[in-house]
Amino acid sequence: MPQHLQPQVAEIQKDLAQEQLVKQLFKEQFQSNEEVICHAPGRVNLIGDHTDYNNGFVLPAAINYGTTIAVSRRADNTVKVYAHDCDQQTNKFSLDDICFDQQMMWSNYVKGTLQALMNKYPNIKGANIVVTGNVPQGAGLSSSASFEIVLLKAFSQLYKLNLDGINAALIGQQAENNFVGCNCGIMDQLISAMGQQGHAMLLDCQDLSFEDAPIPDDLTLFIVNSNVKRGLVDSEYNLRRQQCEAVAKYFAVATLRDVTLAQLMAAKEQIEPVLFKRAKHVITENARVLASLVALKNNNMAAISQLMKDSHISLRDDFEISTKEMDGLVNIIDSVLGVNGGVRMTGGGFGGCVVALVPKSLVAQVKSVVNDNYEKRFNLKPNIYLCEATQGAFR
Ligand code: GLA
Repeated sequence: MPQHLQPQVAEIQKDLAQEQLVKQLFKEQFQSNEEVICHAPGRVNLIGDHTDYNNGFVLPAAINYGTTIAVSRRADNTVKVYAHDCDQQTNKFSLDDICFDQQMMWSNYVKGTLQALMNKYPNIKGANIVVTGNVPQGAGLSSSASFEIVLLKAFSQLYKLNLDGINAALIGQQAENNFVGCNCGIMDQLISAMGQQGHAMLLDCQDLSFEDAPIPDDLTLFIVNSNVKRGLVDSEYNLRRQQCEAVAKYFAVATLRDVTLAQLMAAKEQIEPVLFKRAKHVITENARVLASLVALKNNNMAAISQLMKDSHISLRDDFEISTKEMDGLVNIIDSVLGVNGGVRMTGGGFGGCVVALVPKSLVAQVKSVVNDNYEKRFNLKPNIYLCEATQGAFR
């Protein structure tokens, strides 16, 4: 087989293995065959963090790690879910009586998603579901968004709902906002639904219009999980959101999308210093996302490198959501990449992953510098994921 096809073939084999697994588990759990198998990817954000809920710009890519489910309809309103990777637990509930579950937290993603789906499609009935996935949980690669989107894809096929990717993303976000209790933006769900193979997505979170941005063939999406335990994520996340909203309110606009850097600078003395820093991050990050799109299209690596560096510094110093371990990882990777690649923390912050755009010729070197130095300095083992951009579930 030609060498350049080997990674694609390995991918297809990995996907088939996940499909085989859910098929077999479904048979074991429900003594019958499934009607539908669906898959939705996790995501990594190349640049543009904490901009989505400010109606700004983001540049994520769907990745070749995701959630796969096997599903069949039921005649009643019961939903029975077997979660292979959540201690092989089973959860059963009725669509007529959906309550938050403190014990089995994972089940709230199913409950919240179906409750939000029923607001639009009240006539759906129950289902038997088996779920498995390979997105590391709690690492900031959107295992939960991929779970929401794969459920919506499966229900839309089972019950022939005319649900498109954008509405699926909005329903997934409602599940998080109204049921799970995280005030997240739209990025994770939208890229999981609408990502395009080989591309990142420039998404305008104001009107949900998007453009596919080609990732140069020579670049690997190099992701490293810092394995910092992410405490306080939701409360700090929600606090950042409130701080951004407070500045928008000061300017009497709906979101920070409508505030320019010049306006912010002119009001510096009137705004509380912490709030000023938060807004400065958001406004400058939006500009970096747009500049990154141009740099990607022109394969201008030196520009991408600088933009990712500036984004990390802004998240670290102005938005204050990085950690010393993530800063360390970024420095370790940057020591090899220089202007030949880019690296920054990615996602919600307070732990999780860093993302690097690494030319194929430097992948081995970056891998060994991470393996040789990170654990030594921080006493935590890194996990490295070499990813490619894949297709969203509704694309
Ligand atoms: C989390 C949220 C997203 C986004 C990012 C930060 O992943 O779910 O909506 O706000 O954090 O960019």
